[in-house]
Amino acid sequence: MNAQAAPQVLIPRNEIDAEVRTLAARITADYRDTNPLLIGALKGCFMFMADLVRCLEFPLEIEFVRLSSYGDGTESSGKVNLVQGLNVPVEGRHVLVVEDIVDTGLTVAFLLEYLKEQRPASLKCCTLLDKPARRQCEVCVDYIGLEVPDRFLVGYGLDCDERYRNLPDICYLEK
Ligand code: IMP
Repeated sequence: MNAQAAPQVLIPRNEIDAEVRTLAARITADYRDTNPLLIGALKGCFMFMADLVRCLEFPLEIEFVRLSSYGDGTESSGKVNLVQGLNVPVEGRHVLVVEDIVDTGLTVAFLLEYLKEQRPASLKCCTLLDKPARRQCEVCVDYIGLEVPDRFLVGYGLDCDERYRNLPDICYLEK
């Protein structure tokens, strides 16, 4: 990858907004009366989570975990580490995991297993972006926003070596 190449827009901000509203409508229909616990996987989810919850007009709680699977750069190490776990009880709660992107699927699979062990009343997963071409394990994602091609994406929370998270659009880096 040429690290100097400017990121190219793949999904502009207005399309992201529309998709967030669509996902929020589906989540509202399913969770309105359940006081769910939304658990975001940092850091990539921070922008999506912020936009999503502003569209959810019912009582809910928010927590974050921090996981890492990428070393430096654009290739997943294939090994998921829980950098920061949860400090709140999950048992008996309706839990919705909020992910920015499901790529190999290893992170979501790991997180769902970690949460399942804590006996939530229900456990589902929502992702804004899905990159199915790179899946390495079977994962059940209940709410999927936009399918994206096998390209390394940045912006709207996604990074490359911690850069570009602040871009308002979802962009790709030229190889
Ligand atoms: P997975 O475990 O391979 O599914 O990847 C999940 C995590 O890797 C996501 O939450 C992102 O933080 C990161 N990731 C996966 N694909 C991309 C990408 O194209 N750009 C930036 N980060 C990515």
